[in-house]
Amino acid sequence: MGKAISKLKKFVSTSDQIVAFTGAGFSAESGISTFRGAGGLWSKYDPSIYADVNRFRENPSYYWSFFRDERYPVIKRAKPNEGHFALVELEKRGKLYRVITQNIDGLHQVAGSSDVIELHGNTRKIFCLSCNRIYSMDEAYRLLQEDLPPRCSCGGVLKPGTVLFGEPLPQVALDMAMLAARNCDMFLVLGSSLVVYPAASMPRIAKKSGAVLVIVNMDPTPLDDMADLVINESASKVLSRLI
Ligand code: APR
Repeated sequence: MGKAISKLKKFVSTSDQIVAFTGAGFSAESGISTFRGAGGLWSKYDPSIYADVNRFRENPSYYWSFFRDERYPVIKRAKPNEGHFALVELEKRGKLYRVITQNIDGLHQVAGSSDVIELHGNTRKIFCLSCNRIYSMDEAYRLLQEDLPPRCSCGGVLKPGTVLFGEPLPQVALDMAMLAARNCDMFLVLGSSLVVYPAASMPRIAKKSGAVLVIVNMDPTPLDDMADLVINESASKVLSRLI
């Protein structure tokens, strides 16, 4: 890993508009399961049933049982790991321009990152599909103890603010992420399999716009061939070594 870290250090020393692009692998060391790769959630839960917007419209209980049993308990307990704090340090040193995350756990903000683009939404706000009343994640979990799916006081079904398969990404977040990918001088992928679009188009856009592309991921990704550097190691360990 030594040679790769020194190459990464060289890239970082000549960049001051770095975009960090994080996926589920970045929160793995905070105890939140990844979706793909060893032991991934999608090997236990079929995403076309448990995380698809059309299925949600037919029967929201699938998603909400997944949320109750798998997501809420780990996200509630999760704390930022040394990778999250390393990104905050990079920001303090004036190196980090933006964080683009596919994660919905909010750990970047908890760690202190000030400019986070959440491509797939977040679990902080849960709203009623009928009257749009907003609930917190904890309130939704309490309502889940009484009713599956959880319902608003008006009787409407609740929906999380996270993007399900088949749903469009929040347009503002997508536009801001595209802009960041075009304007950065280094695009640092951290813990993503890079198989879900349009998020996975960002590294290509950055590379085409002249940025250095670095991919830090335990497993190979489909974009490794276009990267200037690939490190198949723990993202938080690599960032800690970098800092
Ligand atoms: N350090 C670096 N990489 C890691 C680590 C780690 N500690 N642990 C796991 N990984 C890698 C795995 O090798 C895997 O390739 O993280 C990657 C996680 O990939 P996914 O689970 O596919 O997560 P992600 O790329 O964020 O998925 C994108 O898919 O299901 C949807 O909406 C969901 O946002 C998610 C999107």
